[in-house]
Amino acid sequence: MKRQVRKAVFPVAGLGTRFLPATKASPKEMLPIVDKPLIQYAVEEAVAAGVDTLIFIIGRTKNAIADHFDKAYELEAELEARHKTDLLKVVRGIVPNGVECVYIRQAEALGLGHAVLCARPAVGEEPFAVILADDLIEESRQEGGVMSQMTRHFNKYQCSILGVERVPITESDKYGIVHPLPFATRLSNVDGIIEKPKPEKAPSDLAVVGRYILTSRIFDLLTNIPRGAGNEIQLTDGIAALLNEEQVLAYEFTGRRHDCGNKLGYLVATVEYGLRHPELGEQFQAYLQSYGCQFGDFTRPVED
Ligand code: UTP
Repeated sequence: MKRQVRKAVFPVAGLGTRFLPATKASPKEMLPIVDKPLIQYAVEEAVAAGVDTLIFIIGRTKNAIADHFDKAYELEAELEARHKTDLLKVVRGIVPNGVECVYIRQAEALGLGHAVLCARPAVGEEPFAVILADDLIEESRQEGGVMSQMTRHFNKYQCSILGVERVPITESDKYGIVHPLPFATRLSNVDGIIEKPKPEKAPSDLAVVGRYILTSRIFDLLTNIPRGAGNEIQLTDGIAALLNEEQVLAYEFTGRRHDCGNKLGYLVATVEYGLRHPELGEQFQAYLQSYGCQFGDFTRPVED
């Protein structure tokens, strides 16, 4: 029987040092883009792809995420009493019916690989998605969200898939870079993967960004790998071991990515989402135009 991706892991236990002091008491995944926290965009992408179990790997700022996805009785009662039905709908819709949330604590920020390993008891033997919410990826009008695109390929190929994007080769040392063996449009077999290589050592310009579908075999491999770059347990090293045993694909997704893990990327995303916001867009555009800004395509939804 064909396997399906029903569980998604959201590692939100990083230290978020680049956003201090904003991330002192709250994870960076709770930073809002206009009116919605990054983590909620990620959850919506997963649910749209058919995921029904959300597994959050939480760190020292553990309450913020759980509070956001928990039922808020007092707030709901207050909104109801004030007849704020639209807002009530927004608050109640944060976790759709039939979707379950699981919270697992990563006691120490030992790296992304370790965070994923913490999800093992909740994932079990199933294939699962990993979404890094600080990589905010706008969905494509024609192809949908990145995770929906990836699960479609998973349904066909039934193996691990990495979401990849072309990056300037001078930036290879910020990413995991794959050695691809292309076999179809936007699809390659991964022949090798290396974490943060210098440009001259990079096997290609295809960088792994925050979207993965992995088989549960990765857990055994993550258990045994030593600490890698930055003295952290690197997911990339686990994937490097996985592709020695199983087929792993790289998929060049459609959709515009914003690296909201750094301040400039976050600011750019805020401006672009602000300009497209149904309530604020026009006013915001007029405001920026009063400073002489000119707008091109990005005030419209992403084209394919
Ligand atoms: P980053 O590499 O962006 O690190 O983590 P960070 O600590 O969050 O942020 P900076 O670099 O200090 O500013 C990538 C993703 O992995 C998660 C983060 O929450 C983020 O989603 N992560 C990282 C964990 O959950 N646990 C870890 O130990 C490390």
